[in-house]
Amino acid sequence: YQIYSTMTNPDPNRLPISYEEWEKQAREVLEDGPFYYVAGGAGGERTMRANVAAFEQRKLIPRMLRNVEERDLSVELLGYTFPSPILQAPIGVQSIIHPEGELASAKASAEMGIPYIASSASSVPMEKIAEAMEDAARWFQLYWSKDPDVTASFLRRAEASGYSAIVVTLDTPMMAWREDDLKNVYLPFLIGEGVGNYFTDPAFNAKLEKSPKEDPTAAIMYWTQIFGNPGLTWDDISFIQEHTNLPVLLKGIMHPDDAKLALEYGVNGIIVSNHGGRQVDGTQGALDALPKVCNVIQDRIPVLMDSGIRRGSDVIKALALGAKGVLVGRPCMYGLAVAGQRGVMEVLRNIVADLDITLGLSGYRTVRDIDHSVLDQTNVEV
Ligand code: FNR
Repeated sequence: YQIYSTMTNPDPNRLPISYEEWEKQAREVLEDGPFYYVAGGAGGERTMRANVAAFEQRKLIPRMLRNVEERDLSVELLGYTFPSPILQAPIGVQSIIHPEGELASAKASAEMGIPYIASSASSVPMEKIAEAMEDAARWFQLYWSKDPDVTASFLRRAEASGYSAIVVTLDTPMMAWREDDLKNVYLPFLIGEGVGNYFTDPAFNAKLEKSPKEDPTAAIMYWTQIFGNPGLTWDDISFIQEHTNLPVLLKGIMHPDDAKLALEYGVNGIIVSNHGGRQVDGTQGALDALPKVCNVIQDRIPVLMDSGIRRGSDVIKALALGAKGVLVGRPCMYGLAVAGQRGVMEVLRNIVADLDITLGLSGYRTVRDIDHSVLDQTNVEV
């Protein structure tokens, strides 16, 4: 009702409601390079389509007469209570989307009580993001550098600036085959975007002859050499664990055998994700990977998911298949493109409101009560 009542006075600057409309308006404000960098995926974008199709295929079967007057969206994750199961996905190079970049999206998260996952590839250093968020919940996403000193330094800095978990993204040891970006000859890092954490890092700078300010080209060249490390194996996980006291989550797990390894190697959580279809073209939808992964994990550590969350009912489907929380990526970036911090807040508020309403209309009072019985199980694995 709150949302409808604000609409009785039509405001000429009214923001979009649907995901599709946000995307359309973002297309209008962004140049080709940045827009397709955000909106595009790997190869023929088959994974990106599979992510959405996986949600379309699953159907909810609502329950009636179950007193849903009072509802509670809160969840407990890694010992913290959050107001909803929604988190902001780590997204780098936000300065290509809006001049305030990560500072705007992080402040939107802080205002909404939605945990913010700051990317290694942020345009703004993690300390500045932390400062803008004051004591609001934040995690740090690590791109595991080939230079161990940089990796250790990032972990130290994250801990010192109040991040409460480390999300290690495993699906990006190198840049993917992205046809839009190749066509547009657009890779933000090569024009010095998304390097805020690197250019301010003492371990990174120690390897350069001149500071990134004096010789940005040399700094970018060094960055291209150390950004990712395709040589890593499971035995290297101990390096991360030895260099941080924070809980460690692995992002990019799709295979149930990798979920088993994640348990064996003692990590604290996993995020089922195919990076929004931006890495391997032609994989399963991330939602399709959830049931088998959750079956291996058996609630021993939290399983989160992302890739394709657009609406409240998507969140319910992910929770029904075993996720304890979901990350939202592109929708927030379209909000950022269209209206900065206000846009990101609006996008998040809409997804939370839609989740709350759809939860109640489906016959559930809390997100914790959702299980696979809310899904039609004909012909679909749950
Ligand atoms: C990403 N993603 C990402 N992931 C990560 O771990 N570190 C990063 O720096 C980035 N950067 C990034 C940039 C852009 C422009 C996009 C769209 C995505 C992936 C992100 O965290 C998440 O997995 C997906 O965005 C989720 O899919 P949806 O919600 O975009 O479909």
